[in-house]
Amino acid sequence: MKSEKYNRKNFLTTIASTTGGVLFNTMLPVSSAAQNQSFFTEGSESEYLFSEGLTYLNTGTLGPCRRETIEESLKMWKELESLPPKFYGKFGADVLAEKTRNLAARFLGCTLDEILITNSTTSGMNAIAQGLRLKAGDRILTTNQEHGGGLLCWNYFAKYYSVIIDKINIPPDENDAALILKRVKDNLRKKTKLISVSHIFSSTGLRMPIAEISSLARSNGTLCIVDGAQAAGAIEVNVKKLGCHAYATSGHKWLMGPKGTGLLYLSKDVQDIIRPMQFEESYNTYNDGNGVVNLACILGLGKAIEYLESIGLNKIEEHNLVLRNRLYGSLIDLKNVTILSPEKDSLASPMLTLLLSDRFESTSFVKMLLDKYKISIRPTHKEFGFNGIRFSVHIFNTEKEIDFASEVMHKELT
Ligand SMILES: Cc1ncc(COP(=O)(O)O)c(C=O)c1O
Repeated sequence: MKSEKYNRKNFLTTIASTTGGVLFNTMLPVSSAAQNQSFFTEGSESEYLFSEGLTYLNTGTLGPCRRETIEESLKMWKELESLPPKFYGKFGADVLAEKTRNLAARFLGCTLDEILITNSTTSGMNAIAQGLRLKAGDRILTTNQEHGGGLLCWNYFAKYYSVIIDKINIPPDENDAALILKRVKDNLRKKTKLISVSHIFSSTGLRMPIAEISSLARSNGTLCIVDGAQAAGAIEVNVKKLGCHAYATSGHKWLMGPKGTGLLYLSKDVQDIIRPMQFEESYNTYNDGNGVVNLACILGLGKAIEYLESIGLNKIEEHNLVLRNRLYGSLIDLKNVTILSPEKDSLASPMLTLLLSDRFESTSFVKMLLDKYKISIRPTHKEFGFNGIRFSVHIFNTEKEIDFASEVMHKELT
């Protein structure tokens, strides 16, 4: 596969010609743009509660909350327990929850009346599907690389309402945006009501050309629904620039918010078509359709968003890609692995997936890394059909950690 196509020389030529010199920094052994950012200085370790010596390269599974995020949540939780009915509106809980909703709207680039607080990406996707009122024979276009959290909702409607799911096959080592778009275009049918795709594949970290897919969908009169679990907080996400109709994401991954939080964007132009039951009355977090919510976590989520904004998503994305590319460059010639993630910047994300040779099994390899080296990564889901492991790189990770992970990979795989 790719191992033959891409050798280290090709990789360096590619990055040398890439825009902005961002990738060029991956070649510098000591100082890089990433290393100069204060948000990942050595001292920042105390901002996180990681166990001693842990190298955490697993934000794609769950992101860490920073200390101040946890404190914000705990403060509210304790206050609520001092008078439990403070959960209810007249004590101002609804006003507090709205603060996070405001922050979330600004963060994703939409207006307050287009954003909803949810529990997860999955609950956001479920809300979209449930709010759509699909009929027998309606078609949904998706890919073979979707995570269960973005797929179950469509499978449900296929099972109980005879909706038809069409899946575009995207090979795990895909590296060509034009080809992806062609496949989407070729598979659109008269009855295709919506396209539902991930912004970033949890399998390989491929960043899908969402703006182009949205534009294709819009010109075809089709909805474009995006599962953004692996994107918001990892890279810059502006839902208006993407042009999609709906975007669901998690608070507990790249946003580094409390576990059990999420965001859902519904563009104004589809709010009559997508009507989730729990937000029928109002998009406010406290409303009769939604019931009591976890205010402590929602406030923590607001704190986490404020922190990311204070750094700037452009800087975060740059930092994450520089480090990911550093890892890419250091593993490209390694025996017993094939890098599946795209090497190109426009399709790359802060996640890097490797295919292991048959000599190694992904789940036990990942366990060995944790037990022996305290490196946390994850095996890719077995449903994707390959023996893969995935690294995720976020703002708290350092060059030193990347180099350590790379050194260990060389030691264990050669
Ligand atoms: C692409 C994708 N969608 C959905 C999910 C599910 O996210 P959540 O647990 O927030 O529902 C994940 C989790 O890894 C994911 O990678």
